[in-house]
Amino acid sequence: MDLAKRLNRLPPYLFVEINQRIAELKARGEDIISFAIGDPDLPTPSHIIEHMCQAAHDPANHRYPETAGLPELRQAIAEWYERRFGVNLNPDKEVLPLIGSKEGIGHMALCFIEPGDLALVPDPSYPPFFMGTILAGGRPYFMPLKEANDFLPDFKAIPGKIADKAKLMWLNYPNNPTGAIAGLDFFEKAVDFAQKHDLAICHDAPYTEVAFDGYKPPSFMQTAGAKKIGVEFHSLSKTYHMTGWRIGMVVGNADMVDALFRVKSNLDSGIPQAIQYAAVEALRGSQEHTAERNAILQRRRDKLLKVLNEIGLKARIPKATFYIWAKIPQGYTSIDFTKKLLDEAGIAVTPGTGYGKEGEGYIRLSLTISDDRLEQGMSRLLAWHRRSK
Ligand SMILES: Cc1ncc(COP(=O)(O)O)c(C=O)c1O
Repeated sequence: MDLAKRLNRLPPYLFVEINQRIAELKARGEDIISFAIGDPDLPTPSHIIEHMCQAAHDPANHRYPETAGLPELRQAIAEWYERRFGVNLNPDKEVLPLIGSKEGIGHMALCFIEPGDLALVPDPSYPPFFMGTILAGGRPYFMPLKEANDFLPDFKAIPGKIADKAKLMWLNYPNNPTGAIAGLDFFEKAVDFAQKHDLAICHDAPYTEVAFDGYKPPSFMQTAGAKKIGVEFHSLSKTYHMTGWRIGMVVGNADMVDALFRVKSNLDSGIPQAIQYAAVEALRGSQEHTAERNAILQRRRDKLLKVLNEIGLKARIPKATFYIWAKIPQGYTSIDFTKKLLDEAGIAVTPGTGYGKEGEGYIRLSLTISDDRLEQGMSRLLAWHRRSK
């Protein structure tokens, strides 16, 4: 079999060894408590499921959907953006539903990147930003996100020649994995930078509704000029606990939205319609669960941060996302420290280097773990720390 060489260009999957170790320990009957996965543990709100069930019984929804999504869904997305961010979108030209935002993120690279082309990608970052670029034959140019710079890229540090050559820049706030946030002032700088260097911007914003302490994250689309040069990816996954249903959206620049539509219409046949109707209900119906969920996550955040602090793992207090980006003690790599926690405490976390080389020295812990397991996990961490002193 002669597989395409592009597969060899994908960086090694860093979690392989750790996942194997978790599987071995589990097979031996060990109880592993996982802080590793960013997947809401709370169920999809029941009114959304009710709508999905009703729609599933309608034979009209048993047939192929359109790639462009139901007009009603595009309209509901546009209304949600207007209500939540005051952003006006044309539902037919500036909105495209996706089979989860990851799907659109991966395919967007095909709209811009030709062999050898550059995309500016944050490091650390959500892997599909750079994986999409690599699969399209391009090269990511990594913009380090440093704690000293509040995990924002320093545009001034990007050589002019690189910025001129690059076609696309990826950004993501509130940020996975660092939990960092960005204000409209930062987005304005990003738009200026992109205009100066003729870059398109893809901003990924699935965590705008997961926020704490009264903070309301903005949308990149609120920035003057954003629609001229960019799009925003969003998702129902984190907002409505719908990761398993696979539905998201891209909004913004009509040409970019159309380019992605053209790629997608040749590769997929849209989102099952019952799920689209569920999304319409999610976007238009009661939003009460958001405040409840955020209160639960905030309580978990504060408890876990206290324990991490007690055991010497320093972390900033995230204002949004359900991630804690904790600094590990000196003398370990992220991978070694992750293995140590797994072997000695039965705790799984994600090594920072899974998100890029700048993730070295960090681990990511997710708050999407039930309260019971969180309590058990925290007790284990404290006991492990006492034992290792
Ligand atoms: C930054 C970021 N973007 C996109 C996604 C994917 O979301 P979806 O479920 O919509 O594909 C995730 C999921 O973890 C994420 O962290």
